[in-house]
Amino acid sequence: MKIISFGRKERIGHGCFRFVYAHENPEWCVKVQRKDKANHKTSDQHNYREWLIWNEYPECREWLAPVIAISEDRMELVMARGHRCKRKPKNAPKWIADNKSKNWVAINGRKICCDYGNPGTLKKIRELMDKK
Ligand SMILES: Nc1ncnc2c1ncn2[C@@H]1O[C@H](COP(=O)(O)OP(=O)(O)OP(=O)(O)O)[C@@H](O)[C@H]1O
Ligand SMILES: [Mg+2]
Repeated sequence: MKIISFGRKERIGHGCFRFVYAHENPEWCVKVQRKDKANHKTSDQHNYREWLIWNEYPECREWLAPVIAISEDRMELVMARGHRCKRKPKNAPKWIADNKSKNWVAINGRKICCDYGNPGTLKKIRELMDKK
């Protein structure tokens, strides 16, 4: 089994629910659930939902930043690190519920969503993909 470090370096971003740090591997980052937001009905599972979507719905992956690993307590998620991109793609799929520009990054010139852990996205993906 490959051992993956959850060690954080400098902070590279933050949102309402997570702080995001550089990882010692420059191609990855670490997303850490904000403790001040925990225990809200849906706010403490953003990392878990990203991990779940990445693993359960491979048909969505072309639009998503890859998930590398999650800690047992789900507080920390290692994700492929992208570069800031100015504009979100025009043809983003409808199931990406929180489609603001800040939630898009570029990896190898391709725009992908780095924030797909909100409950609305999982709900839409389930509605669309589970009936196929
Ligand atoms: N994979 C990534 N690569 C590079 N930067 C990232 C990545 N994931 C997140 N970030 C940066 O960190 C910020 C916060 O991450 P994210 O949007 O996932 O957190 P959140 O708390 O769920 O956000 P929100 O407030 O939008 O719900 C992003 O806007 C982006 O700038
Ligand atoms: Mg966000």
